[in-house]
Amino acid sequence: MFRKCRLYLLVFLELVSVNEALNNGLALTPPMGWLTWQRFRCITDCEKYPDECISEALIKRTADIMLDEGYLEAGYNYVGIDDCWLEKERDDNGRLVPDRNRFPNGMKAVADYLHEKGFKFALYQDYGNKTCMGYPGVLDHEETDIQSFVDWDVDYIKLDGCYVDTAKMDDGYPYFGKLLNQSGRPMVYSCSWPAYQKKPDYASISHHCNLWRNWDDIQDSWSSLSKIMNWFAENQDDFAKYARPGQWNDPDMLLVGNFGLSLDQAKVQMAVWSVLAAPLLMSVDLKTIRPEFKEVLLNKDIIAIDQDSLGKQGLRVWNKSNCEIWNRKLSDGSYAIAFVNKRDDGTPYAVKVSFDTMRIPKQTYEVQDLYKEEQPRSVGPEVDFETRINPSGVKFYKFIPKSSNDVNTAT
Ligand code: GLA
Repeated sequence: MFRKCRLYLLVFLELVSVNEALNNGLALTPPMGWLTWQRFRCITDCEKYPDECISEALIKRTADIMLDEGYLEAGYNYVGIDDCWLEKERDDNGRLVPDRNRFPNGMKAVADYLHEKGFKFALYQDYGNKTCMGYPGVLDHEETDIQSFVDWDVDYIKLDGCYVDTAKMDDGYPYFGKLLNQSGRPMVYSCSWPAYQKKPDYASISHHCNLWRNWDDIQDSWSSLSKIMNWFAENQDDFAKYARPGQWNDPDMLLVGNFGLSLDQAKVQMAVWSVLAAPLLMSVDLKTIRPEFKEVLLNKDIIAIDQDSLGKQGLRVWNKSNCEIWNRKLSDGSYAIAFVNKRDDGTPYAVKVSFDTMRIPKQTYEVQDLYKEEQPRSVGPEVDFETRINPSGVKFYKFIPKSSNDVNTAT
């Protein structure tokens, strides 16, 4: 009898402890940084593609530029290696081995380099027995691998979900998070858990992860970006409410500066991502990026929207004739409002909307154009708000209440 009770107690304690919130005090604003995948994928041939292969050299070069050209100062402080950093086999002790040619000094050397320059180190792994590209995954080696991450001074783990039984994720991801917590080294925990499930349990996911990839991989095109925006808008009621300091929905990496988006389209992504309180993870060759795209990534006012301390995710509040309004409430009582034009008729599209349509309280605002294409203007609720938006473009404004006296709390 006593043994049985003890057994029940142990099972109970184990369940309670797996159920502990991650609560690691990290990612109080959406993580910002740079990650290899979207631009550099799984390029491993350094002889053929010396400037593009996933390697220590790429990481160092990127970190140098991020420091020298103001990216770190703007807030992009994580530098991360996505898939394809490993040897295909573990060592004789069952430990992960970074590719010997591409990471000749191992991962601790990479971390040291980054830390000395003021960055944090992000690394990819997968909860299955293989990563999506077929390198060894953590399954059945969880403790050994977390020890390696600790030894290498990793600050952020992206844990993917290829080759995992999706039914096992609901226990597996919390279990891995618990082990991370017990490791004694604070590591941001990025989970791909919901991206692999049909009906994700967001209450549990947000309890156990700092950020989570909700859906499909982003590809380098306007159609992929539009699809992701649409999916996030159509499903926003399921998960937007779980975003808050320490826990974020992740619509995937920024495409800004690569091949597939025009400048207007890049501005759309930066605006909508900041309304979504999304992680801002660049994935671009910072050596060759064109200055106008760099300017988008370094737009301080837009970064400030993304990083707003209230941590409330914005919503798409209007969608008509292929035009959308996205609205995010900010900590100082202002609103970030993005007008997105998904139409392709070749002229800027004019819209005229009421304050109710924009879902903002009826008061007087100073309206600032966050891309600085227009002069600030003062607007009141008595007249509809008018703007014109380029085809596949955005107008992104901050509506700042002029005086707290005329705030109408009814809306
Ligand atoms: C999955 C992820 C991507 C990337 C690749 C790497 O597809 O969703 O973000 O990490 O795996 O193989």
